[in-house]
Amino acid sequence: MKNLNWGIFSTGAIAKNFAKTADAMGISIYGIASRTLQSANAFAAQFNIAHAYGSYEEMVQDPAIDVIYIATPHNLHYENMVLCLTHGKHVFCEKPITVTRAEAEKAYALAAEKGLFLMEAYWTRLIPLNEKLLQLLSQNVIGTVQLAQANYGYISQGPRGVRKMDPALAGGALLDIGIYTIGYLAMLFGYAPKQITGSVTRCNVGTDALSTVVMEYENGIKAVALTAIGTHIPVEAVIYGSEGRIVIPNHKNPTRIEVILNDGTTTVYEDEFAVNGYEYEIEHAAQCITDGKLTSDKYTPAMSLSMMDIFDKLRADWEMRFPFEQ
Ligand SMILES: NC(=O)c1ccc[n+]([C@@H]2O[C@H](COP(=O)([O-])OP(=O)(O)OC[C@H]3O[C@@H](n4cnc5c(N)ncnc54)[C@H](OP(=O)(O)O)[C@@H]3O)[C@@H](O)[C@H]2O)c1
Repeated sequence: MKNLNWGIFSTGAIAKNFAKTADAMGISIYGIASRTLQSANAFAAQFNIAHAYGSYEEMVQDPAIDVIYIATPHNLHYENMVLCLTHGKHVFCEKPITVTRAEAEKAYALAAEKGLFLMEAYWTRLIPLNEKLLQLLSQNVIGTVQLAQANYGYISQGPRGVRKMDPALAGGALLDIGIYTIGYLAMLFGYAPKQITGSVTRCNVGTDALSTVVMEYENGIKAVALTAIGTHIPVEAVIYGSEGRIVIPNHKNPTRIEVILNDGTTTVYEDEFAVNGYEYEIEHAAQCITDGKLTSDKYTPAMSLSMMDIFDKLRADWEMRFPFEQ
């Protein structure tokens, strides 16, 4: 694989994870950009990165950078992607790709027009054990699937907790982690359910703290997602069939699948990560770029846009608009 010069936008929590993972993979990150040079310098020192930039705008001017990983709050993803793409950089953007479908569509169109790679960094899709799960489902190992549930809720405290709910930053659980619950079920059963309904509980600043979303499919499957910030809900998915169930503990980054038939017979599939689970998406994005692809065939623009459709629909039903959308 060609050595790409990776740049990172932001010195936040997931940016640190990315740099740590890349380091463990033997990939040296070329540059780090932050809103402040001080933060960029500290990050560069921590992860042994040679180039630090005191603004995102400065990084895109560097002709040596091939691809930029965007790890800023969601409301900035669209403008950050436009900045990168108009300066000839491939883009690997954190989830959710944007705040609305309309923005995502424009970003994918711009990438195509510029002949540049753009992918939403939905790391779960690239985790190898998912292929096993999809295979088990296609083999009907638990008979006819009738119902599935995917849950995830976490408690985030301090300034980051405030940031996660902040309406000005497109906060709330749906956009932050809906891809792990609703998106996971869509990955298993399809991105076009015939009906989607959701019930929401809002937090004190108006964004969604907790929701129950039900997706109903033409084939009768009902898929239920519990998504929360502020309530601890263990990450677990269960798929119920006529002959048994499949349990996926930690479906966000799974290393274990349990197939439990109605007579109690249990088969376990395990697959430990080479690093921490993020390595597969990094490897995949780098390979796509090296191969000259403009999009991923694992997590396609169509999938990513369909997720934004689902989020748009739920937010419209909940009349949940962010201040910058008023
Ligand atoms: N894939 C995953 O597992 C995963 C996990 C967590 C988060 N994420 C996604 O990654 C993105 C960042 O999340 P995070 O948890 O890393 O957030 P975070 O810790 O709050 O970091 C966000 C960073 O964005 C930069 N930023 C630029 N403008 C900002 C503003 N107006 N307010 C606050 N920060 C600003 C800041 O870095 P500088 O000051 O250096 O510019 C800040 O450190 C989100 O879209 C989130 O959904 C993905």
